[in-house]
Amino acid sequence: MAYLQPDKEGKVYLPAIRTAKENGQKLVCLTAYDYPTARIVDEAGVDIILVGDSIGNVIHGYGNTIPVSIEEILSACIAVKRGTERAMVVCDMPFGTYHVNEDESVRNALRLMKYGGAEAVKLEGGRNRVPLVKRLVSEEIPVVAHIGLTPQSVYKMGGYRVQGRTAEQAKLLIEDAKMLEEAGAFAIVLELVPREVAAMIRGELSISTIGIGAGLECDIQVLVLHDLMGMTFGRQPRFVRQYANLRQVMTDAIHTWTADVKSGAYPSDDESYGLTAETKKEMAAK
Ligand code: KIV
Repeated sequence: MAYLQPDKEGKVYLPAIRTAKENGQKLVCLTAYDYPTARIVDEAGVDIILVGDSIGNVIHGYGNTIPVSIEEILSACIAVKRGTERAMVVCDMPFGTYHVNEDESVRNALRLMKYGGAEAVKLEGGRNRVPLVKRLVSEEIPVVAHIGLTPQSVYKMGGYRVQGRTAEQAKLLIEDAKMLEEAGAFAIVLELVPREVAAMIRGELSISTIGIGAGLECDIQVLVLHDLMGMTFGRQPRFVRQYANLRQVMTDAIHTWTADVKSGAYPSDDESYGLTAETKKEMAAK
C-alpha cells in the first residue's frame, strides 16, 4: 500500500479549501516530489502540496514538462503522500495522460488517486477541457484546472510568456475560468497572467484561484519549492522570490566535508566503530 498515514487533526480536504475561500482566509501551496521535502513542507503547515509536473524541470532536468511520464509522477506522488499528514495532496496529470480519450484519462487519474494517494488531480487547459473535467468530477475525482501559461503547451505557445495581456485574450481567460468552474473544478491555477486579469477572474468565480505569477489577489499562492529555496538553476521568472539559498548551503557543507576527509578530520573515532578491549586482547593472543 502506498500510504498509511492516519488523518491528522485539521487534514485538508475539499471542504477546508471552500471554507477558507468563504472566510477570505489565504492558503499556501508548494510543490514536492519526494518524502523528505513533503514532510518538511507538510510539517511547516503548508495547506496543499502539488506533485507538479515541474518535476520534469526541477528533478529530472528535462528542460520542460513534456517528457514527464505517469510512472515518474506516480512514484513521486507515492513518496509525497507517505510524507504528508495534513496537507491536501494534488497530483498533476502529465502531458499525454489526458489527451487521448476520456476513458484513458479517467483511468490515469484513478491510478494517481488509488496508487499514488492523490486527493485531487490537476490538468491544464481552458474550454477544451470542459467535457473531461465534467467526466472526472462525475467519477468522484476532484479536479484543479490550470489556465494562463500552461507549460505543457510550450511548443504551441513558443515559450513561457505572460498570457491574457490583450483585452481579447483576457476575456477568453475569464470565460475559460467560468466554464471550468461550471464543469466542476474546485480550484483553478492562474499562471503568469496580469494581476488585474487574475483579480477579475477571482471576482467572477466562487471557487479558489491559485496564483503563480498572477499577483496578490488570488486566494491561494503556489510556488515551486526549489525556486523558493534557491535550488534551481538559471534565470528565474520575476514572480520567484528566493527565501533561502540551499544550493549555497549544500555546496558549503560538501566543501567542508571534502576538506575534513582530505585533512583526516573525518571520520573521527566517535564516528566509526571499534573493537572491544576483550576482542583486542583475544586477537593479540593469537
Ligand atoms: O507543475 C507545477 O509545479 C505547476 C505549478 C507551477 C502550478 O503546475
